[in-house]
Amino acid sequence: MNIIFETPRLTLRQMTINDAPLLLELNSDPEVVKYLHEPTLQTIEQAQKVITDIILPQYRNNLGRWAITTKADNNFIGWCGLKYRPELDEIDLGYRLMQKAWGKGFATEAAQETLNYGFGILKLPIITGKAHIENLASIKVLEKIGMNFIGEGLVDDCPVRTYTKANPSA
Ligand SMILES: CC(C)(COP(=O)(O)OP(=O)(O)OC[C@H]1O[C@@H](n2cnc3c(N)ncnc32)[C@H](O)[C@@H]1OP(=O)(O)O)[C@@H](O)C(=O)NCCC(=O)NCCS
Repeated sequence: MNIIFETPRLTLRQMTINDAPLLLELNSDPEVVKYLHEPTLQTIEQAQKVITDIILPQYRNNLGRWAITTKADNNFIGWCGLKYRPELDEIDLGYRLMQKAWGKGFATEAAQETLNYGFGILKLPIITGKAHIENLASIKVLEKIGMNFIGEGLVDDCPVRTYTKANPSA
């Protein structure tokens, strides 16, 4: 198991193809993808394709969406991590949790340490976060981890708020 980092309550590790059933459970919930520009996943084959085509290639650059498990019970609750978006030339901070894990501060805990990892270990100069303007929980997370509001705009025809943070050590 390739662990990226731990927080007081969470372990973040690289995903493998064996995580497809967990990713399917996460991405088949319409509430989870409500504000995201993507359809729900319906089949295990679709989840496997997301892992092989989207998630695993990011690991080559030491970036990626990492599986989050809770230390208390070793349960998968979602993912958090950094992704290079070539069309925007940005390193994007993202997170997605199962509904049962919402409202416990887990996204904030994972996102905060992801920022620390991106700046401290990967030495990234700047990290960006985007959220649909109505996705108040996600916006709250970006603000709680100290990211700065840059503006609103359309990305893939979706109205989003953009936040950035520069590496404090740069
Ligand atoms: C966004 C998401 C990751 C937040 O996860 P979480 O673990 O519940 O987040 P946290 O508990 O760390 O913090 C959420 C904050 O938003 C607040 N919040 C939650 N729902 C809210 C709402 N509808 N309106 C206003 N604030 C809200 C919470 O009260 C909390 O703030 P607080 O600590 O000051 O009370 C989770 O809702 C999720 O996975 N959503 C689906 C996927 C998604 O939208 N990802 C983000 C894409 S940009």
